[in-house]
Amino acid sequence: MSLFVVFEGLDGAGTTTQTQLMVEALRQSDRPAIQTREPSDGPIGVLIRQMLSMRVVSRLPQGFEPVNRESLALLFAADRLDHVQNTVVPALHEGKVVISDRYYASSFVYQGDVDESEHFDVAWVRELNSRARRPDLTIFLEAPVDVCLERMGSRAQRDIYETQEKLTRLHGRYAQVMSLLEEAGEPILRLDATQDIGTIHARCLQEILSHLAD
Ligand SMILES: Nc1ncnc2c1ncn2[C@@H]1O[C@H](COP(=O)(O)OP(=O)(O)OP(=O)(O)O)[C@@H](O)[C@H]1O
Ligand SMILES: [Mg+2]
Repeated sequence: MSLFVVFEGLDGAGTTTQTQLMVEALRQSDRPAIQTREPSDGPIGVLIRQMLSMRVVSRLPQGFEPVNRESLALLFAADRLDHVQNTVVPALHEGKVVISDRYYASSFVYQGDVDESEHFDVAWVRELNSRARRPDLTIFLEAPVDVCLERMGSRAQRDIYETQEKLTRLHGRYAQVMSLLEEAGEPILRLDATQDIGTIHARCLQEILSHLAD
């Protein structure tokens, strides 16, 4: 039976770790599964990754922002529809479980992240994503900023999101966005991501198996 599952969480919360473990566990129990991610590995996703890692610099005088906020929101939404059409839906049609490392909740959190000096229409980001298929289950790995920072610590190349102040704002936005999705009737599992990897994985597997049994 097919199922579309998404892992969400702040940078360093462990979404990649859990996505990978889950796909391995499902395959080992003879349930076909694919591991995927956003930004995707398609052409738009590759471009976004280059922009986030500052390998694409479009406005040298300002120096810092490699692309303006609106353009980035459009690219993320475009990548998402491409990812759904070319990767997610075909795998679901083949009866597979699709596990995505991030999806539209990440856009609502990161593309909607503004400080007091900025004005940005967050409702517009939701509108841009309104045609993206709804996940059957979103697992939100909830971890405090200091834990995330510690886990990201050894990473060689940090992207433009990974500063403490930003992470603190994003942490608050994640809570808001998850409540919003819950109010909209989306199945969300919130997990304490400070637990050890195996404990989190076991709880996620239990939840996914129960969805598959429905
Ligand atoms: N529950 C956990 N307990 C301790 N360490 C963990 C846990 N989950 C992940 N880690 C470790 O934290 C680091 C970051 O994990 P991971 O790459 O999965 O995070 P991420 O959420 O994918 O981050 P990003 O969103 O930035 O890609 C890794 O070194 C991983 O082994
Ligand atoms: Mg990751």
